[in-house]
Amino acid sequence: MADESQKWVLMVTAQTPTNIAVIKYWGKRDEKLILPVNDSISVTLDPAHLCTTTTVSVSPTFDQDRMWLNGEEISISGGRFQSCLREIRSRATDVDDKEKGIKITKKDWEKLHVHISSYNNFPTAAGLASSAAGFACLVFALGKLMNVKEDHSQLSAIARQGSGSACRSLYGGFAKWIMGKDDKGTDSLAVQLADEKHWDELVIVIAVVSSRQKETSSTTGMRDTVETSLLLQHRAKEVVPKRILKMEEAIKNRDFASFAQLTSTDSNQFHAVCLDTCPPIFYMNDTSHRIISLVEKWNRTEGTPQVAYTFDAGPNAVLIARNRKTAALLIQKLLFCFPPNSDADLNSFVLGDKSILKDAGVESPEDIETLPPPPEIKDPSQKFRGDVSYFICTRPGRGPVVLSDESHLLNPETGLPK
Ligand code: DP6
Repeated sequence: MADESQKWVLMVTAQTPTNIAVIKYWGKRDEKLILPVNDSISVTLDPAHLCTTTTVSVSPTFDQDRMWLNGEEISISGGRFQSCLREIRSRATDVDDKEKGIKITKKDWEKLHVHISSYNNFPTAAGLASSAAGFACLVFALGKLMNVKEDHSQLSAIARQGSGSACRSLYGGFAKWIMGKDDKGTDSLAVQLADEKHWDELVIVIAVVSSRQKETSSTTGMRDTVETSLLLQHRAKEVVPKRILKMEEAIKNRDFASFAQLTSTDSNQFHAVCLDTCPPIFYMNDTSHRIISLVEKWNRTEGTPQVAYTFDAGPNAVLIARNRKTAALLIQKLLFCFPPNSDADLNSFVLGDKSILKDAGVESPEDIETLPPPPEIKDPSQKFRGDVSYFICTRPGRGPVVLSDESHLLNPETGLPK
């Protein structure tokens, strides 16, 4: 190892996207290793709008592993962090940074400590799968720092042990988490089905739904479901395996009708399984139901699906439109039904790719008030002002990347948050 008196700090910063499942993971067959009861498929969201940035650093001056999330120090003594750190450390190899004159051998990594700083570019409290991007980024960044030679699939099996859905965030485009058969979880990993360029017409609109209720965490919720729901067993054995094959075909052929039908049906079955849990779990609320009903009516009127909907462990709607034109129509309908509170400005009500707003002909809050009522709604005089906190317009996006030195979240001299 380099002379301890040399107070060097080595660091890597990476950015990793979040993902939304279109065939859901719900239920574990092994709680500790995080092994699921069925395969799942997700679409990766554009990191420009939703991602985690993580800096990992190592120095002989660090006396313990430490982590900061959005600037606040958090404990990493929990089993999930420790599993990820242990697994990635055991795969570390020699590092020889000639430029900085730093040499670290495989053996040194057992004794060296790391500092980690992580930042989400979206509100953690909004319930938008921050743990998926977070654990994927942690594992990816540590893999780079420690010169781990494993490929993305093998890294995904480590990220999985932080949070199940994290394993799918190691890829851009579309990813599948193969449940695997091995009791030790060696074959429970993610693979890429298609990259982000494969189906770049899709537009994703997320409605962040206002909610006062504290939701049951995914981990607790799925544990209760595994213990009490018979419907989950039927779903995992009979329904999902067939759906996975159909979804893979739909993605391969860019068959939107099939993709939308499978996505929405699978979301509904996931929430049905939650309702079949004892005690029942309610993740969606009235606003979620109103959004479903709007999309269902619109799709039926058109005779072929225009938009797919999916909901995770919370009331937020993730809507996938077949193209920009449909997305503009969707935004018009949503803004009509769920306008912002009068004091909100448009800039903080529609986030992400704001160019969709222009396509929708909405350039000021006044434009929202003059939108035509969507034919799908029964009573155009009834609006649900404030029931959606804000919208995020995005699209399928790329997988993890290493960022340049300017992006470091830790001070390169001290290894402490900037
Ligand atoms: C509804 O990955 O958050 O979003 O593995 O216990 O950390 P743990 O759960 P998590 O569960 C995600 C569940 C879901 C569906 C999905 O992403 O597939």
